[in-house]
Amino acid sequence: MSINKVMVIGAGQMGSGIAQVFAQSGFEVLLNDVKEEARKKGYNQIEKILTKDVTKEKITEADKTAALERLTLSESLEDAKDCDFVVEAIVENMDVKTKVFQEVDQFAPKHAILASNTSSLPITEMAAVTNRPEKVIGMHFMNPVPVMKLVEIIRGLQTNVETYEAVQQTAEKLNKTSVEVNDFPGFVSNRILLPMINEAIYTVYEGVATPEDVDTVMKLGMNHPMGPLKLADFIGLDTCLYIMEVLHEGLGDSKYRPCPLLRKYVKAGWLGRKSGKGFYEYS
Ligand code: CAA
Ligand code: NAD
Repeated sequence: MSINKVMVIGAGQMGSGIAQVFAQSGFEVLLNDVKEEARKKGYNQIEKILTKDVTKEKITEADKTAALERLTLSESLEDAKDCDFVVEAIVENMDVKTKVFQEVDQFAPKHAILASNTSSLPITEMAAVTNRPEKVIGMHFMNPVPVMKLVEIIRGLQTNVETYEAVQQTAEKLNKTSVEVNDFPGFVSNRILLPMINEAIYTVYEGVATPEDVDTVMKLGMNHPMGPLKLADFIGLDTCLYIMEVLHEGLGDSKYRPCPLLRKYVKAGWLGRKSGKGFYEYS
């Protein structure tokens, strides 16, 4: 099938990055968010990154202009009426996601694929609330989207081969490498990454070392580009907690118990970079 027009739902850090790579790869893009402030922030973030790329001579001014011309902000899911592909990138909460899937399913044309960028939640469950479960799939980008090469593609129980192949080809057009993953809590990426981050939080909670020292151990000792606590702040501590809860409940093993310190920070509104404070402070 031919994919020309894409709606990205959620203009946060992931949605704005996803919209950017689609627009830079020649797709018409609608970037939707319920909050006007988030739509503006998402657009400004894309413009900022593209401007930086022009300064670094990675792209030309004309490339930047063309990408921005392909990008339109949207405040209504009804705008999905002429889209071939929808990528949902809103909060990591099944109730909120299923509501959005139910709604967008009413507006998107019958041929359109509905993808979720969920970090951990079951694709099968999102598919089940739509009238097109065979066209619902997971397309899990990594943060920051314009930089990271990987996309996990997750088939739900009823996802058909045509949908999988269309998403695989789309990932190639975005210059990403895709890996097929089964619909299990946390897929591969977050089943492995988040328990490591959670354990790093436990080492701080139990007084083994400071956040700075934990991060130094993993950066200089294991050559990670960022320490796990810097990375947790980067992902968003709310998202980290949601993912640990999905692993804990979905896999039913106490080894996935979210660290109480993570819960406490999220309750305090310390969500990491996006709120200005997490394990570190951000101006
Ligand atoms: N958007 C676009 N480009 C960005 C960016 C962003 N938000 N942040 C950084 N970059 C670009 C920079 O412009 C720079 O580009 P050039 O090489 O062309 O100059 C490049 O990335 C490197 O950036 P910096 O030099 O500023 O900083 P760095 O060397 O520390 O790299 C990083 C930044 C790429 C984020 C690196 O620290 C890194 O790879 N960190 C780990 C990221 C990671 O693990 N991501 C996965 C998170 S888990 C996930 O996504 C799944 C989930 O469901 C939670
Ligand atoms: P974020 O908090 O930065 O952005 C979420 C956006 O969704 C907000 O702008 C919010 O206004 C918007 N939103 C909420 N409900 C909405 C609705 N009903 N309709 C339209 N917009 C709505 O979150 P994020 O970090 O971009 O994460 C988004 C999704 O991507 C989550 O499922 C997360 O698990 C996943 N993800 C996150 C990362 C990461 O590193 N942060 C990486 C991969 C995948």
